[in-house]
Amino acid sequence: NWVQWNDRLVKDEEIQLSKEDRGYQFGDGIYEVIRVYNGSMFTAKEHINRLYESAEKIKLVIPYTKDVFHKMMYDLIEANEVTTGQVYVQITRGSSPRQHQFPIEAVEPVLTAYTKEVDRPVSQMANGVAAKTIEDVRWLRCDIKSLNLLGNIMAKQEAHESGCFEAILHRGDTITEGSSSNMYGIKDGVLYTHPATNLILNGITRRVILACCEEIGLPVVEQPMSLSTVYANDEFFMSSTTSEIMPIVVIDGMPIGTGLPGEWTKKLQTAFEAKIE
Ligand code: PDD
Repeated sequence: NWVQWNDRLVKDEEIQLSKEDRGYQFGDGIYEVIRVYNGSMFTAKEHINRLYESAEKIKLVIPYTKDVFHKMMYDLIEANEVTTGQVYVQITRGSSPRQHQFPIEAVEPVLTAYTKEVDRPVSQMANGVAAKTIEDVRWLRCDIKSLNLLGNIMAKQEAHESGCFEAILHRGDTITEGSSSNMYGIKDGVLYTHPATNLILNGITRRVILACCEEIGLPVVEQPMSLSTVYANDEFFMSSTTSEIMPIVVIDGMPIGTGLPGEWTKKLQTAFEAKIE
């Protein structure tokens, strides 16, 4: 398998990373996960734009134009002959003697990207999954797709230890998002989801879903959901690049609605599927 390492496409063994890479030492970097369907990237432009936005927010300058970057990802997918899968790409601030503040001398950012075959989670999408509510203890810049994911992975691990697929994060009574996904509730024919503020990552899948809602005539309210009424939703689901539209049918052991994927959720899945074909 080929790997993109800075501006070169190389074999895995050729990559050399420094012990003082700031991504490794501080999580000082950003990343994206891009879906590949039928050999081509889905919503590539949106992912690339978000990567460059994340970079700007942490004052990291990506040393490639967006077009060059796009071409790199394209060539990587071609080289690895990915059919249904994903690209993982991260860019760190680079390597320099350890100190918290940015390096004084200009340091080249370090890019690594690789691909993986990943099936669509069809059976889970058909049956739904369980989730657990967990306090959101992350920082206040969750809009940045940062490599710092301790808050996310601690929550995901806790959910997994409880036999759940995902953590539903909440700050006090406000539901924000999932540990690696966005969250949506449907009540009386209206979809609720947290607005795209600093408290969530504005998912690319989320943006596609909001367009799907318009297509199928499902009203959207971008307003935080309350934890205290979460079990009273008629339907609930999460979204991400890898999980697409994933029904959540049990929260904290309580069935949501009928305990099966809801009708609106299924309609959204159909509308979403039409876009990826
Ligand atoms: N996670 N919120 C968080 C905290 C995320 O990490 C993700 C994505 C999302 C959904 O964003 P999108 O629809 O653009 O994938 C929301 C990726 C897939 C990951 O870390 O693997």
